[in-house]
Amino acid sequence: MERSTGNAQPSLAFAFDIDGVLIRGASVIPEAKRALAILEGANEMNWKIPYILITNGGGVSETERCHKLTNELGVNITPSMLVQAHTILRDHSREYADQDVLVLGGRRNGLRQVAESYGFKHVWTPLDIKAWDPQYVTDFSSKRISAAFIFHDPRNWALDIQILLDVIRSRGFVGKVYTYDGTEPPPVRLVFCNPDLLWRSEFPVSRLGQGAFREAFQAVYKSLTGVTYPIVQYGKPTKPTYDFAERMLRQRILELVVYLLALMLISLRCTPDNPESDIAGANGAGWHSILVRTGVYEGGRGSPTHKPTYIADNVLEAVQWAIQRER
Ligand code: G3P
Ligand code: MG
Repeated sequence: MERSTGNAQPSLAFAFDIDGVLIRGASVIPEAKRALAILEGANEMNWKIPYILITNGGGVSETERCHKLTNELGVNITPSMLVQAHTILRDHSREYADQDVLVLGGRRNGLRQVAESYGFKHVWTPLDIKAWDPQYVTDFSSKRISAAFIFHDPRNWALDIQILLDVIRSRGFVGKVYTYDGTEPPPVRLVFCNPDLLWRSEFPVSRLGQGAFREAFQAVYKSLTGVTYPIVQYGKPTKPTYDFAERMLRQRILELVVYLLALMLISLRCTPDNPESDIAGANGAGWHSILVRTGVYEGGRGSPTHKPTYIADNVLEAVQWAIQRER
């Protein structure tokens, strides 16, 4: 956006990674509150700089996560500012509106409500299928699961891999062994929302993420069939997720209205902690990327696998560097 004199507004917008940049496990990274306060206008030019949060995390509704983030970060985070690993599925629910789908991840049946809030109408979880007994609960013998979505990191890998195998190898007809009878039901679509092999919690060593579950499932499937199963992968660094996030950010800028003219000219800054997902994704989307040393990447082990525009000690230094650079 052209810089007006006086209350000049920057042609700048940010997309923040959450785990390892703003939050680590249950604790807020000390510099995060100050960094976001600067973007909310606490700077000598009174700039209000638009930003969103983009995470491979999830497992709850955007509204619930925003409520928690607002309390943790001391700034108002609204669902129009948050892209979780599974938020992109909001755009895909219509094509499954009349179909039975399996949703994995999170605690017990917690993700059913999230999937239904996106518009999915016939949502089942591994526990529904595990508990299946025609005399008592849902009878799956007449249902066909057409897609399985790994919304969030599964807790019980053994159960989830077993149920996924049952559903996939029966072409969606749970409890039946698929035998070719002349009709060819399409294969079950398998969609993962977070490719992270590792992520940073408050534990001093990075934790296994949903990408590790995907590798475990594929290893078992390959041992049984000799091939890996075709999947759809969303989440950072995939292009669909960055395209979705960029649309959200432009919508956010519209919401702010003040930055209307910046719509065509913003130069995006992404502050991530994980070179494999965040830097790779930002670079692929043509965004500038600032890698911080408070997450998966700590800088001790040489240069990162994907080259960021800049490496900062923490998110506050990242924001200050980006604003300084725009001047
Ligand atoms: O499951 C959470 C983890 O994969 C990383 O989240 O915020 O660093 O993308 P984030
Ligand atoms: Mg992170």
